[in-house]
Amino acid sequence: MYTDVHCHLLPGVDDGVKTWEDSLACLKMAREEKVSSVLVTPHIWPGKYPNTPEGLLAVFEPWRDRARDLGLDLHLGSEVYFLGHLAEHWASGTYRAMGDAARYLLVELPLLVMPQGVAQGFYELRLKGVEPVLAHPERYPYVAKDPSRVEPLASAGVAFQLTTHSVAGLFGGGIQKAAFDLMERGWVHVLASDSHSPVNRAPMFRQAVRVVANRYGTEAARRLCVDNPRRILAGEPLLPVPCERPQRRFWS
Ligand SMILES: [Fe+2]
Repeated sequence: MYTDVHCHLLPGVDDGVKTWEDSLACLKMAREEKVSSVLVTPHIWPGKYPNTPEGLLAVFEPWRDRARDLGLDLHLGSEVYFLGHLAEHWASGTYRAMGDAARYLLVELPLLVMPQGVAQGFYELRLKGVEPVLAHPERYPYVAKDPSRVEPLASAGVAFQLTTHSVAGLFGGGIQKAAFDLMERGWVHVLASDSHSPVNRAPMFRQAVRVVANRYGTEAARRLCVDNPRRILAGEPLLPVPCERPQRRFWS
């Protein structure tokens, strides 16, 4: 059973699901996708989604109680938008880590331009005792075009989270190619759905797992979708995920 550590299924707090009914529909879809644990990660983005850990918890707890009958294990995190000063914001309680173990923090970067100071910001965050997890690098055009942009992060040991839709090719061949490239460099530790609604960007795992298992083997798929996401929730170190580029076959 899979653990989904990035999705927007807490209703009414960001650009994810808006209603309890849509949230419930997504949770049922997640269960059908063989997901047993879900970490909801509402955006914390000052000026756009001004959520606070306390405000999110006040929405999360009754939601979790209402969803109890589904038999899913539900956790609260957040997805932090990088605006600099990560460590200061973390220290002042602006962010919610990935679950109660609070070892990892999910951070997304601006879509179109890589900001200055990301590596330094991540380094300072780690000095405060929390490990950044980079959200969906394959979807930033500057990374897809030139993966070396995030090499300093990877070589510093930052974990990368890719989106299942990207890996499955549902965001197009370019993004899928970038996803494979990052995996084959050994920089990726976890896949997650980043689901937002039951219609567009719905919860999905099985298709991505099939793609990874066919290309890199079942052990890689298990580490990306079972072992490492569980380790994030448990606050444990992540396992490396070796992904060997498939050999070209020549037919006579
Ligand atoms: Fe997200």
